[in-house]
Amino acid sequence: MGSWTDLALECARAARAALQLDPAVSPVAVVLGSGLGAFGDQLASPRSVSFADLPGLPRATVLGHEGRLVSGELAGVPVLAQQGRLHGYEGHDAATVAFPARVLGVLGARALVLTNAAGGLNPHLQPGDLMRITDHINLTARNPLVGLNEERLGPRFPDLSRAYTPALAEALEEAAREAGIALRRGVYAQFLGPSYETPAEVRMARILGADAVGMSTVPEVIVAAHQSVPCCGISCITNHAAGIADKPLTHQEVVAVAQQVEGRFLQLLRAFLPRAAAAVPARKALA
Ligand code: HPA
Repeated sequence: MGSWTDLALECARAARAALQLDPAVSPVAVVLGSGLGAFGDQLASPRSVSFADLPGLPRATVLGHEGRLVSGELAGVPVLAQQGRLHGYEGHDAATVAFPARVLGVLGARALVLTNAAGGLNPHLQPGDLMRITDHINLTARNPLVGLNEERLGPRFPDLSRAYTPALAEALEEAAREAGIALRRGVYAQFLGPSYETPAEVRMARILGADAVGMSTVPEVIVAAHQSVPCCGISCITNHAAGIADKPLTHQEVVAVAQQVEGRFLQLLRAFLPRAAAAVPARKALA
């Protein structure tokens, strides 16, 4: 196997050919978390390519539905969406989990918008809330940049102090106001999963300064910062984290709430994407 960079370049070229992407266009990339499955159906002029047809991507995820990249337009904005995320708890290392985000950066995405489902630790967060991720705490002890640094992509020791790009944060706040959607703010802590946290772990995360917990997103944010891709994250709070409410947690509950929120989430993205595209400059594709 070549380096991650070579593989990302190869994968990006294959995706560009399959999706007939115009190299002069710098799209907004969106990684779709639980409950945003309908996003792809909202795109005008959609084209898609399965992970199975792209070099460097694992074939299927544990979720059973195949991952794919979808291109199209939403609210007039060229969009590239990743449907079907890879997670560390499926057995992938962090570099593999973040590989699709690397490819989106190599393809010249002007911004990376990450979405997920999360449990609320902050008592002010209720199931059904949408939360702008202001910062994160990586509790997985994993980092996608471990190994030889890819100088062509970014520095050995990237700065994460502005990983959640202020211009996109502002654009998201404006979009929420304009769309009349309440948007909370909070720090996201990532655990590896797949078991949900214990009540003691949830108390620990709260003491550490987290507002929500989940099992994704951090690896993608780190590669975006590495490649200087402006980034933002939105969590759909699907449940009170373990021990916050006195009842057991189920995946069914997470999926059901995520589905209930989907319409509002899509509305927020529709208002946000044009503002996001205007808030950050176009980037050049590497491949
Ligand atoms: N913990 C971890 N991941 C999650 C949760 C949670 O409570 N809810 C949705 N994803």
